[in-house]
Amino acid sequence: MTTDTKQDHVLIFDTTLRDGEQSPGATMTHEEKLEIAAALDEMGVDIIEAGFPIASEGDFNAVSEIAKNSVNSVICGLSRANFKDIDRNWEAVKHARQPRIHTFIGTSPLHRAIPNLTMDEMADKIHETVTHARNLCDNVQWSPMDATRTEHDYLCRVVEIAIKAGATTINIPDTVGYTAPRESADLIRMLLERVPGADEIVFATHCHNDLGMATANSLAAVEAGARQIECTINGLGERAGNTALEEVVMALKVRNDIMPYATGIDTTKIMKLSRRVATVSGFPVQYNKAIVGKNAFLHESGIHQDGVLKNVETFEIMKPADIGLNEDNIVLGKHSGRAALRSKLEGLGIELGQNQLNDLFVRFKDLADRKKEVYEDDLWTLVRDAEDATPDRLELKSLKVVCGTDGQSADMVMLVDGEEKRAETTGDGPVDACFNAVKDIFPHGAKLELYQVHAVTQGTDAQATVSVRLNEDGRIVTGQSADTDTVVASVKAYIHALNRLLVRRGKVGEGADRREISYKDVS
Ligand code: KIV
Ligand code: ZN
Repeated sequence: MTTDTKQDHVLIFDTTLRDGEQSPGATMTHEEKLEIAAALDEMGVDIIEAGFPIASEGDFNAVSEIAKNSVNSVICGLSRANFKDIDRNWEAVKHARQPRIHTFIGTSPLHRAIPNLTMDEMADKIHETVTHARNLCDNVQWSPMDATRTEHDYLCRVVEIAIKAGATTINIPDTVGYTAPRESADLIRMLLERVPGADEIVFATHCHNDLGMATANSLAAVEAGARQIECTINGLGERAGNTALEEVVMALKVRNDIMPYATGIDTTKIMKLSRRVATVSGFPVQYNKAIVGKNAFLHESGIHQDGVLKNVETFEIMKPADIGLNEDNIVLGKHSGRAALRSKLEGLGIELGQNQLNDLFVRFKDLADRKKEVYEDDLWTLVRDAEDATPDRLELKSLKVVCGTDGQSADMVMLVDGEEKRAETTGDGPVDACFNAVKDIFPHGAKLELYQVHAVTQGTDAQATVSVRLNEDGRIVTGQSADTDTVVASVKAYIHALNRLLVRRGKVGEGADRREISYKDVS
């Protein structure tokens, strides 16, 4: 990794596992976090923000293990402006070959009011906490949260204090996605001009997407001198999300003529990682999302198709292969054998052992019997369904649903710890009737927070992918499933989420995955 601000190299700081995971419902399991971190490291991400170690035992363990497994990336954890947070952060990241402590405090008038600190008191706190972090670690990042709504004089003052106290990276967050490209650039320029020592450190840009300008704001900051972009895969993140890694990286690659900055990212790994993050986070990628959306390389209108057939560059500014999207000619269906399945999976970057392949093959055949063609997305959902390692306590055995103008009812049999249980229920629609049956068979207090149906393939035999989010006392889990029958997919997704909830309940003692952390606590 280089921190030489004079090189036209932009560091990519990925915060999918911290800011991205803060999206309500996007919690990932421990194993999923390790897998995503390994993929980010392999893809060339310079710095991985692996989590918020003080938030829970689960976060702490994930950050520690990611740090231990890291190869090339710097591993960073987040901490508020207090010694306890910073010490806990260090305990987790210190195992990395290249650790970094990231500490932050809200500096805008609105954020200063929460801990009720005067400007001077906050300045002292910044000095103390950054000094403390720097005494533990050579690589310290400091962020004035809500920087874009902080008074310029005060921002310059606190940035100078953080630099003097030893911060090596100063991140300028647009926490609420409020800035616009010209202002984003002017802010970085102003800091570089006014703050003594600013040319000795790296400025980072961290933009949220509330007005849809995150990527543009990040790139404008780079043109003004920022040399680290903070981003997430698929733009995952609080509210409208963050700058999307794939967008900034591809923008810098495709428009290198006007933005001559290099990143170390292997772009051919983008598509695989985007799909994986969509699967594990339970946040599907919108079809028209730049770079990674399903439609990003599809041409529907006659004029476009004609143009592309004559010269692909007429309507494509990058090649699908640049992001690892490889079209092949293998069409999977009920006559396909193991070799075709294996080859297709390998094309998607999925490597399975012989037993896993055999197991998947049985379920692939079952699906192929019901569908004319099995598409890539179908394979992803099959693979994902096979992944949950812990044996399920709840299982759908059979389901009959009556629907139509005379009302809706469900007759369901489920296995609960191997024991058969049955319920006959009605509801406001077939899915509601089924969910009532699940509650009848397995009573629970979890609230349904999100129910999303997505047709992942085309035609009336499309597989429907259903995502369900449940919240039990702040413990949030998502479940997904796919089936050609939307109601069956819905019930399986609900049961999937309940099974995950039961696993998490079992880990409560370790404080697993509960997010009771508050940014307000800076004492
Ligand atoms: O958006 C933000 O301000 C943050 C900080 C914690 C860096 O995520
Ligand atoms: Zn953020």
